[in-house]
Amino acid sequence: MPALPTREDKFSFGLWTVGWQARDPFGDATRAAVDPVESVNRLAELGAYGVTFHDDDLIPFGSDAGEREQHVKRFRAALDATGMAVPMVTTNLFTHPMFKDGAFTSNDRGVRRYALRKVMRNLDLAAELGATTYVFWGGREGAETDSAKDVRSALERYREGIDLLAEYVLDRGYAIRFAIEPKPNEPRGDILLPTVGSALAFISSLEHREMVGVNPEVGHEQMAGMNFVHSISQALWHGKLFHIDLNGQHGPKFDQDLVFGHGDLLSAFFLVDLLENGAPGGGPAYDGPRHFDYKPLRTEDMTGVWTSAASNMRTYLLLKERAAAFRSDPEVLEALRASQVRELAIPTLAPGESFAELLADASSFEDFDVDAAGSHGYGFAHLDQLAVEHVLGAR
Ligand code: GCO
Ligand code: MN
Ligand code: MN
Repeated sequence: MPALPTREDKFSFGLWTVGWQARDPFGDATRAAVDPVESVNRLAELGAYGVTFHDDDLIPFGSDAGEREQHVKRFRAALDATGMAVPMVTTNLFTHPMFKDGAFTSNDRGVRRYALRKVMRNLDLAAELGATTYVFWGGREGAETDSAKDVRSALERYREGIDLLAEYVLDRGYAIRFAIEPKPNEPRGDILLPTVGSALAFISSLEHREMVGVNPEVGHEQMAGMNFVHSISQALWHGKLFHIDLNGQHGPKFDQDLVFGHGDLLSAFFLVDLLENGAPGGGPAYDGPRHFDYKPLRTEDMTGVWTSAASNMRTYLLLKERAAAFRSDPEVLEALRASQVRELAIPTLAPGESFAELLADASSFEDFDVDAAGSHGYGFAHLDQLAVEHVLGAR
């Protein structure tokens, strides 16, 4: 059994996760509002190291300057008392009716300007609280009808917005990087930058692209039918995994935001294996926060909320333990060898070899035994079964 979570595990939660009152499009809230101070205290007790928030989670929209100061003061006192960190902050650019057609990409220019100001104000607070990552989840940046949104102009405005905000951060000297969170749909029919791949392509067009990465969420990629482990691998390959949202999802349907591991468990196992053991020479491939962005089921009372928060961390640690066992099992090492998994790391051309030498190498083509190459098995099914057995605790 894994140890209880500690600060070193770097588990963090959004205030909006345990604080979700479980309003959905068909039903009213099933739980009372949770005081952010209570969330900080409970999460600290459970072993988390940090909390994250949208501006409006901490300071209700419309608060005046005095109220704002009070909310921040109480929150800060709770952070100081518990030692909890604020590794990431984000903006609510989706709840208020003004954002119904988007924020940075609303057809209404006034809304776009307001959105930029809302982010700038919250960037100041993020810096003040020591956050190093600022997330952009553009849930309302999209459309339901193709006649209503000029997507190329929308992308232009999205770029204008992120470029301006990056300039603001640089000008103020804040130690903050941006992380764009993709999602294919919900609440909009189609959201811009629907997948990790789309976000990476968009980032490459930005003025300050070095300070912008991605914040992929398990369920969002899976809603789009993508393999989350592949998406994370590509983000890592580009050096762009700045943050991660862990949760669970059962395939392409509405955004379930289940507890981590309560969706595709095998994918969760390979994800933890990648994060914890995926560096080229072994060891962690990602050292940022393990951030849970889940929604406690609508059926739960407050006991269920705190139990499910603990479940996210426990499942992560169990999978980490299972992944370590998988990586040190001699039979797995032999299966990896038989499957030639490590050989893929060897460059296809020899050092200094050019296409001329490749053309001159008869063994690579003229004499290559294509029948032998086509008939040998790779043993992938055996390797995968070993992973399944480790997940099931059978080895
Ligand atoms: C979702 C998203 C959001 C964002 C969050 C950060 O479930 O659609 O995860 O929860 O992560 O709003 O801005
Ligand atoms: Mn989600
Ligand atoms: Mn998220």
